[in-house]
Amino acid sequence: MQSVSPKTTAADITEAALRSFDGAPNPRIKLLLQAAVRHLHAFATETNLTANELIELAEILTAAGQISDASRHEFLLMSDVMGLTMVVDYNTNKKPDGAFESSVLGPFYRADAPWIELGGDICRQSDMGTPALISGRVLSIDGSPVRDAVLDIWQTPANGMYENTDPSQVDFNCRGRLRAADDGSYRFWTVKPVPYPIPKDGPAGLILNAAKRHNMRAAHVHVIVEAPGHEKVISELFVNGDPYLGSDAVFGVKNSLIANFVLHESADDAEKYGRPVPFFTANYDFVLVPGEAPEEVKFSAGRA
Ligand code: BEZ
Ligand code: FE
Repeated sequence: MQSVSPKTTAADITEAALRSFDGAPNPRIKLLLQAAVRHLHAFATETNLTANELIELAEILTAAGQISDASRHEFLLMSDVMGLTMVVDYNTNKKPDGAFESSVLGPFYRADAPWIELGGDICRQSDMGTPALISGRVLSIDGSPVRDAVLDIWQTPANGMYENTDPSQVDFNCRGRLRAADDGSYRFWTVKPVPYPIPKDGPAGLILNAAKRHNMRAAHVHVIVEAPGHEKVISELFVNGDPYLGSDAVFGVKNSLIANFVLHESADDAEKYGRPVPFFTANYDFVLVPGEAPEEVKFSAGRA
């Protein structure tokens, strides 16, 4: 038991709570728990948090657990809409100028997407949106081509729903992995990304509603790029001109991740690309930094 003086204050409790974790054998866990105590106590004191507000917070967290399932991760969503996920990203993924920057993984990533050929299509159903060819090169920061690079790509089709949340789509629709060529070049077909709403029917929605914020994500395609001898990058490409670039619900947009999607409508282009118009093309080079990814991100959603 902690000993307390006759005139105990909130600060005494903070000190006692901090000391109660001194014996944690794992130094990282000890650091995290003590910092959590320090910041949570400061939060309660700064806001003069009431007992009823604390109970309401507990009920919101309970609701977050209850609404979560294999394809719905409400705690991550709450972290995303509060900007916590992107703060973690900025703090832990610093890159030199010119390098491909990271962004949110999001709660809809699924590992082990099917492989596609170079130039193949990640959308496995027709009428998923306006086709788009995304191409470019995987380069090292010195400009040399990177060999054996692998791209893991996923996005929503034009209906704005990831396949694992939409029973009308086939398994792994608009998801795929491909290997870049030896000269670092890559290309794949998909559909032009659209802005889409993140789920608003749980506690993350409560947070957005409280501030009258919208729940739209700027149009994007997710991509993880990895190659031997280089840092793996978890990121997304955004569409230049998208109306939500400046107000993405999860703060994921970085200027260097915005790509131009060019519309093609002519018969000549249909012939040149072997695809009926209209379609878009976007060109983007992924510039990687030599090294290893510090730590594997293990998260993968399932199909509900
Ligand atoms: C997504 O882009 O998949 C996403 C990211 C954060 C929250 C919700 C969705
Ligand atoms: Fe997304």
